[in-house]
Amino acid sequence: MKIYCTEDYDSMSFKAASLIAAQILLKPDSVLGLATGSTVLGIYHLISQWCADGVVSFAEIHSFNLDEYIGLAPGDPQSYHAYMRANLFDNIDAEPGNFYLPDGCADSAEEECRKYDELITSLGGIDLLLLGIGRNAHIGFNEPADAFSVPTHVTALAEETRRANARNFPSPEAVPREAITMGIGSIFSAKKILLVANGKDKAEAIRKAFTGSVTPQVPASILQLHPNVTLVGEMAALSELGV
Ligand code: GLP
Repeated sequence: MKIYCTEDYDSMSFKAASLIAAQILLKPDSVLGLATGSTVLGIYHLISQWCADGVVSFAEIHSFNLDEYIGLAPGDPQSYHAYMRANLFDNIDAEPGNFYLPDGCADSAEEECRKYDELITSLGGIDLLLLGIGRNAHIGFNEPADAFSVPTHVTALAEETRRANARNFPSPEAVPREAITMGIGSIFSAKKILLVANGKDKAEAIRKAFTGSVTPQVPASILQLHPNVTLVGEMAALSELGV
């Protein structure tokens, strides 16, 4: 595993965005896995800028987002579909139809999960997967549990996660209770994983994920077994790693 410890949020975003840009330059038809949340906003901002400047092109890229809330339609302003449009897809030379998120309003969520995995597999799997991490060490919406869930699945959100994500909703009660998330299978099958973290409130999750036991109670700990993980973290987030 490679670890880059950066001084601040901006340098974390620059390092991670550079690694994604390098992936696109080396393989212009890469399949990317993409995350939402506040940590990755700086990365998307830089990539949008580089795309406008002609440094990178998404013309041949396909991407799969990690997750979507159940009950939020793609047009809902709080949906991850809307987040991705506003923060990345509308700003890049995206080929319509090549950027996928699970549909949180599908008639059958189970069928939607199955189709999502099939689509990822049919495109040859994910070349580079960008991950954030929750305070309870969730990745995607894989919450602490008694077992790792391998396929894309419907998951109940931990109360801690709902509280943390409430800042993006009109009220805490408005945060959905369930989501569709890529499972540990697609995450782990990604050829490269790039995990980013900033802020002191992620330090414990990072320590447990990368120095503790591999356990489904700490979902990100599975990454210790992956052969190609890069962690780009701002100092405060890595402060309990001893790097
Ligand atoms: C959400 C997303 C995750 C993300 C996490 C951290 O729960 N499902 O993919 O990594 O939040 O978000 P933030 O970057 O806002 O701390």
